[in-house]
Amino acid sequence: MAKKLFIRTYGCQMNVYDSARMADVLAPLGYGPTDRVDDADMVILNTCHIREHAEDKVFSELGRLRLLKQERAAGGAGLVLAVAGCVAQAEGEEILARAPYVDIVLGPQTYHRLPEMVARASRAGQRVLDTDFPVEPKFDHLPGPSATGPAAFLSVQEGCDKFCTYCVVPYTRGAEYSRPVAPVIDEARRLAAQGVREITLLGQNVNGYHGEAPDGAGWGLGRLIRALADVDGLERIRYTTSHPRDMADDLVDAHRDVPQLMPFLHLPVQSGSDRILDQMNRQHTADDYRRLVDRLRRARPDLALSSDFIVGFPGETEAEFAETLRLIDDVGFAQAYSFKYSPRPGTPAAQMPNQLSEEIKEDRLARVQDRIGRQAEAFNRGCVGRRFDVLLDRPGRHPGQLIGRSPYMQSVFVTAPESMLNTVQCLEVVDAHPNSLAANLLSERACA
Ligand code: SAH
Ligand code: SF4
Ligand code: F3S
Repeated sequence: MAKKLFIRTYGCQMNVYDSARMADVLAPLGYGPTDRVDDADMVILNTCHIREHAEDKVFSELGRLRLLKQERAAGGAGLVLAVAGCVAQAEGEEILARAPYVDIVLGPQTYHRLPEMVARASRAGQRVLDTDFPVEPKFDHLPGPSATGPAAFLSVQEGCDKFCTYCVVPYTRGAEYSRPVAPVIDEARRLAAQGVREITLLGQNVNGYHGEAPDGAGWGLGRLIRALADVDGLERIRYTTSHPRDMADDLVDAHRDVPQLMPFLHLPVQSGSDRILDQMNRQHTADDYRRLVDRLRRARPDLALSSDFIVGFPGETEAEFAETLRLIDDVGFAQAYSFKYSPRPGTPAAQMPNQLSEEIKEDRLARVQDRIGRQAEAFNRGCVGRRFDVLLDRPGRHPGQLIGRSPYMQSVFVTAPESMLNTVQCLEVVDAHPNSLAANLLSERACA
């Protein structure tokens, strides 16, 4: 009988990609997906360590799974419980000690070995901890991807050598690594052959990509994007997350030259204060960021930006915070994520003096979110009357309605025949809501 696998994913898109690949790895063992944890024979929590809150969620979820496992055991059945991802990498030993009912703890770089770990846990009843950074990259051992819709993630780069002083990623994901060009293009072709129309290239520092081409040359992300634009069936390309320091000319030019590259870029800046940026070890100034945005907009005038902000970094003064608000006003974002600074164990910023109070962080977060919220609303309103190619990727709540995503990642609602599901259609935006757009169908062809 087929066994059921339930995966809960926390954190970034990289984890979403990894969860899909873990499912691919376990499929040959007879595990099929379920979205009901109560039906599962195996549960994987794919965890995130980026902020304290993310980590807390994992331990409360583990508490619930302990009870589920006890119920199963009382009925004479088993449940394999695995903790994967960045909390597992950072705190593997602690999880095994604190949660004796967990069978497997594995880091983000070892999940190609899951079949072996599952065998050891279920047959031999052993507990397994595998948080190595193996020399052979996991990508060499993964089966082909299986698409689950018209949009897919494709991981091209992993790890980070930037060591921003607040961040755990360099410790949980390890050193920067770029996949070679050939397997990336092969994976894109396989996805396109399964009906994928949009791919998002992923990496913690995706624009630092420097993959080896078959002739031994090193390719940057711009070159890779140009090659992917030639893959049959792929109509849209995105990439995330970028670091402002790694925005090479060739990549900026790709925004001008490659129509498939969507005019929307997530480019985290974190702060508008040069002193705070320096304390964060971001290695650029606020004006460097402004100039970079200008370069990008010259290359692609309809480009819209999204960003990440951290408020309440140790020692951040009110005047320094005001510089962040000024940068937001200067640049104008279509959307952005903002976070209260969260001290993370083992990172330099956690040791800095002048840690700010929760009240100050709350207050600044509310002000940044208000500013960004108003920009996002204005951006959405500015879309009314525009024509967009929209990838219709899911049925709407009402019969006859489909939902898609715009080039700017907004949800777009339209009345359209079901036969248009999973296709790109030209729509005219007729109304804007805080989190979505309403549109009319124009024709069955693309806009441009
Ligand atoms: N590699 C990406 C994203 C890393 S994590 C980058 O360099 O931008 C995603 C976001 O989480 C970061 O951009 C940052 O805004 C936020 N973040 C990371 N560590 C944090 C911390 N300790 N406290 C609060 N926010 C944090
Ligand atoms: Fe973390 Fe900075 Fe690396 Fe992004 S660039 S993953 S914020 S250390
Ligand atoms: Fe979280 Fe790890 Fe991603 S810490 S944000 S899941 S790289």
